[in-house]
Amino acid sequence: MIGLNTIEELLEQYLPKGDEGYGLLSEAMRYSVLGGGKRLRAIMLIESFRLFSDDKDLEKCMAYPFACALECIHGYSLVHDDLPAMDNDEFRRGSLTTHKRYGHAMGILTGDALLNYSMEMITRAGVDFEKSKPGQYCSYMSRFMRAASVLYKNAGAFGMIGGQVLDVEGFGDDVQPDEGMLATLCELKTSRLFQAALCCGAILAGADETEVSFLDDIGRLMGLAFQIRDDILDVTASFDETGKDTGSDEKNNKSTFVSMFGLDAARDRVKELYGEMSGKLAALPGDKTALESLFKKLFMI
Ligand code: IPE
Ligand code: IPE
Ligand code: MG
Ligand code: MG
Ligand code: MG
Repeated sequence: MIGLNTIEELLEQYLPKGDEGYGLLSEAMRYSVLGGGKRLRAIMLIESFRLFSDDKDLEKCMAYPFACALECIHGYSLVHDDLPAMDNDEFRRGSLTTHKRYGHAMGILTGDALLNYSMEMITRAGVDFEKSKPGQYCSYMSRFMRAASVLYKNAGAFGMIGGQVLDVEGFGDDVQPDEGMLATLCELKTSRLFQAALCCGAILAGADETEVSFLDDIGRLMGLAFQIRDDILDVTASFDETGKDTGSDEKNNKSTFVSMFGLDAARDRVKELYGEMSGKLAALPGDKTALESLFKKLFMI
């Protein structure tokens, strides 16, 4: 499996230096992205690429910038998720949340800057690719564009941001969500970035459409299980275990699988989803050991 250290080094290189630019923005961007994190989305993107290609040069030129861009998008979503207008949390990855450390305005601007920077990374990688491999540019360019389109669709108004809207605004006045609505919310706010990870890796490596849509479904199941697991940990885990404020969902009156169906039912649902995603993963080509062991580590709860 791609090492955590490799991903940290890549992010170090790709992010602006701490003293570049204006005010404390670059420092706050680095603080928000480099301060820990499991790097699940970056790992999944690179491991999905490796299912379909063993070309290390392509992995570097294509999969690495997308993996870093995805971690920046994820990082920005967390910075904004923690803001007082959203979940109003004080700790993330064992340290103060970005707005607590740098102020509310900087929290908003740091999130904006990270989202924009993700696009800068990807477009710059495309331009550099053209310079280094002029003859091959056209065929690979279409992979770049398809992957970018999948990434930003999943991250945007009809993906993760849409899910965050349902999370903070609900489904309408006095509408109590049922299980299906709750699953939709989780799939939007959380699954979509995991789907982007698996699909972008596969597209960049040249997988066909059937394989990509199979991975999309695995990402959907995985994200749903991951959000239910996160909701369980919000109730059961300590600050030392998660590095986040405990009881955030109850404080914010959030409807979650735990608040609606209880801890045991939530755990059972995670197990069920783990079974489903493992079955689907087994049907794919290539060496699936890394993704299998990642899913096992996360979901054998
Ligand atoms: C936190 O994601 C947000 C959720 C979708 C629950 P992670 O748990 O992957 O956050 P980091 O990157 O490891 O801090
Ligand atoms: C939010 O879910 C996931 C995002 C899209 C940012 P949570 O609000 O439960 O995530 P945590 O618990 O703050 O990490
Ligand atoms: Mg939230
Ligand atoms: Mg939150
Ligand atoms: Mg949570």
